[in-house]
This record gives sequence, C-alpha cells and structure tokens, in this order.
Amino acid sequence: MGETDVERVGGTGDGALTLESLSREPLLGREYQDHPDVVHERLRRRHGAVAPVDLLGVPVWLVLGYPEALYVLQNDERWPKGMRHWRARNEGRVPADWPVAPALTARNMMARGGPDHARYRAAWDAALRPFQDPGHPQARRLRDNIRRTADELITILVRGGRSGAADLAAQFSRPLPLMVAGELLGVSGLPGDEALLDIWRILDAGPDAAEASARVLAAMGRLGEEKRNRPGEDFPSYLLAAHPRLTTEELAHELTMLMGMISDHASILITNAVVEIITGDGRARASLSAGMIREAVNHVALRKPPLANFVPRFPLKDERLGEYVIRAGEPVWIATAATHADPRFAGGASVSRAAGTRAHLSWGAGPRQCPARELSTVLTTLALERLFERFAQLELAVPEDQLPWRSSPFVRGLRALPVRYEVKAGEAVTSPDAEDAEDAEGTEERGRDGERRPQGSLMRRFLVGLVTGTIDPDAF
Ligand code: HEM
Repeated sequence: MGETDVERVGGTGDGALTLESLSREPLLGREYQDHPDVVHERLRRRHGAVAPVDLLGVPVWLVLGYPEALYVLQNDERWPKGMRHWRARNEGRVPADWPVAPALTARNMMARGGPDHARYRAAWDAALRPFQDPGHPQARRLRDNIRRTADELITILVRGGRSGAADLAAQFSRPLPLMVAGELLGVSGLPGDEALLDIWRILDAGPDAAEASARVLAAMGRLGEEKRNRPGEDFPSYLLAAHPRLTTEELAHELTMLMGMISDHASILITNAVVEIITGDGRARASLSAGMIREAVNHVALRKPPLANFVPRFPLKDERLGEYVIRAGEPVWIATAATHADPRFAGGASVSRAAGTRAHLSWGAGPRQCPARELSTVLTTLALERLFERFAQLELAVPEDQLPWRSSPFVRGLRALPVRYEVKAGEAVTSPDAEDAEDAEGTEERGRDGERRPQGSLMRRFLVGLVTGTIDPDAF
C-alpha cells in the first residue's frame, strides 16, 4: 500500500491537532477487558481508522483500520519501533513509573528499533530454524516432546474421573508450553512456575512489573552464561553461534523474551483455540472434525489474536493516517482484533467469510512479523490434536460471558478456562490414589538423555494437587 492510498483512506487531516490536544477515552477498563470489540467499534465510529486513547495515563494512538495497520507494519523504516523516538518521553512527559514501560524498554527483539535489528533478526531465524524445519531431528524431537507432555498432562487431569470439571488453562494450556520451553532453552526440568508468574506481571503491566522483569532477567543471565561455557543443542547456544558478539546481558534479554512469548502467548493461543472451538461460529470445529487442525488454528488466530496490541511504532516524520495527522515521535499501537473487524479487511469479506485467509495480522506483517509462527502453530496444533483425541466432550463450565479475561495492554487471554469434560470410551483413567502417594514423595522424572528433572516433578505434583483439591489454583 502506497502513501497515496493512505491519503485516500484517510479523511480530512487537521494540521493543527496533536495527540495531547485531543480528548481521549481511557482504553483499559472493565468494558475493554470483557468486550474489547464494543470499545473498538465505538472508537471506530467516533474517530475512524485511528483513534486517540489514554493508556494508563499516557496518550497513544490506536490503529483500528486494516489498511492503515498494514501500511505502518510494512514501512518499518518510516514507522520504526524504539522508545528513543518517543517525543513525549524524551521531553519527560511519560511518568518514570508508567507500568507499561518495562515491556517496552526491554532490550529485546520485540521492542528494539534501529539498524541493529536485521542482525539480531537473522540470528533469531537461524537459532529457531532447527526447531521449525519439519525435517530437522530437533523439530521431530520437539514434536514428540509436545505430544508426550500433552498426553501426560491429560492423564493427570483425568485422574479426577472419567467425567468432571477442570481448569484447562491451569491444568493444560499453561503448563504445556512452559514444559516445552525447558527443551528450547536447554534446561533440564522447567524454568519454574515463579518465572511464569513474573512473565504475567510484566505483560499485564501490574505495579510489580519492574521487579518481575529484573528477576526473570537475572535467571536468564545465569542460563546464558552457562550456555556460553557449555553450549548444547538448544536455542541459547544456537543464538550465540549465530551472533557470537552477543553479550551475556543481551542474551539474557532475548531469552527472557522467548520465555515470555512461549509461556504466555503460546498458552493463550491454545486456550483461545479451545474457547473458539467450543463457542465459536463452527468453522474452527468443522476444520478440526475434517482433520484440518492447522486450518482451525489459523482461524482461531484470526478470530482471537493472543497479541492484542503491538509494541508501538513512532513515525519519523508527520504522517497522515486515517482521519488524523500523526506527529513525528507519537506512539502508534496496532489493535490486532480491531483491524480484523474492519469492513475493509480481506477485501471487504466479513471476518467469518474470511475464515481461510492468511492475510490476518495475528502474527504481524512486514519485516518484523513473528519468527516463531511455525513453532507456535505446531505446538497449538498438537495440543488440540491430543485434547480432542482423548476427550469425547469438552464444554464451558460457565456461561461464555463470564469467562475471566485478563486486563492487559498487550495480550488477550484468560485467567482460567473452566470446562466440563468427558473422556472418550476406551481411554484408560488412572485412579487418583495409586499415584498420588508416589507424587507426594516427589518422584523424579527423567529427560531425553535420562537426566533428572526434579522441577518437572514439582510441576507434576502441583497438577495432581489441583485434581485432588489440595492446591488452590489461585495461588498459581
Ligand atoms: C501463539 C504465540 C505467538 C503469537 C500470537 C505471536 C505473535 C507475534 C506478533 C504479532 C509479532 C509482531 C509484533 C510486532 O510487529 O510488533 C511477533 C513478533 C515476534 N515474535 Fe511472536 N508470537 C508468538 C509466539 C512466539 C514465540 C514462541 C516466540 C519465540 C520463540 C516468538 C518470537 C517473536 C519475536 C522475536 C518477534 C519480534 C520479531 C521482530 O521484531 O523482528 N513469538 N510475534
């Protein structure tokens, strides 16, 4: 899309307006948490394709229009990421303790702008390749690990009985990517439940986001140093091989980001997929029934994008977008789901008619789109395959409008996914008593090479505790 097209989709830009001079409604709040689509449509009616909003006390632009979002994403050199471009921040008008800042100032691939990006990106692509190239032994091992872990989690879950109630987020979609992250990071066992909680604290921009960020970073720094001294067949070692000049601190930032993306975003995609399959327009379920699980995952990504709002971009020069002129250095956030609801998305097809399209923005677009799309798709596909293979019935245990959505400026995900399940006929279900004693004693698991995985055992005991009611899920 060229500049003239943007001017055409835009209306009458008023050269005198700046973001700070416009009245702005607060974006985050109860209504946005439960019904972001309602907020998006109200903003679209009032402002068109781009709306001024207040993000926890700070003025930002929200892009709701699909062509406008694509234009920004595909013109990275004119709309770069990078906090140093933010004029208001440089002039001291963004509070130092703004809770969104830790996620934006992290020196990782997602947030970083500037000429260095291409070098980092090439290293990321190289380090992920063994896990994403379907024929590579590493990718095969990962797929086996995902299947095995998913089956193990389901086996623990159904210890509650052939039919019953469960929190599919706490008992399946959250631990699964976390357990798989251990293999990517090359750690025996799990990175730890506390690390996952810290990732949540950062992405939900809570008051303790900064401390959480420092803790995860320190743990990843220790891991990075270990891999530099003793490289293995894992992401940190591959990243160092592709970018040998990476300092330990830089490596720690990249690993923290990987942890965040896999343990949170991938888990959200799995949870959102289950919700969409159970409650959606029937297309995801139809694709699933036809054995087209990847198609179902694509449809879920389109309907329920885990990354709700992208890291902001800042135009280097004043640029017209939608009805407004965006001033150089003003922050512009892309609201993924809103762009998919734009009547101009997919050539005017409605979201449901555009079901098969790959043109959605859930993985980004342009030079900065997600490098781990294949890995995340495979993880979600296998998770769904195992779930729907082993359960005859999965349904929501609460009305859909009572699902507990997180309040986050970045992601759209659930705190819990309460379901009622029924195991397929012929599926073996272990009695709770037999293995609980064993778990209570802390039986150790063994990894691929027979190494001990005590942390995995901790996670296992935690999950058994959820089934037997000895652990409170809210403590997680
Ligand atoms: C379901 C899970 C995931 C979703 C929905 C997702 C989505 C996205 C999106 C939308 C972007 C573009 C953001 C932007 O343009 O500002 C992105 C970028 C990125 N993602 Fe993912 N992602 C997922 C999982 C992962 C995982 C597991 C990893 C790491 C292993 C990862 C690594 C990255 C990186 C490094 C970038 C930045 C790329 C760049 O700036 O060049 N993502 N992701």
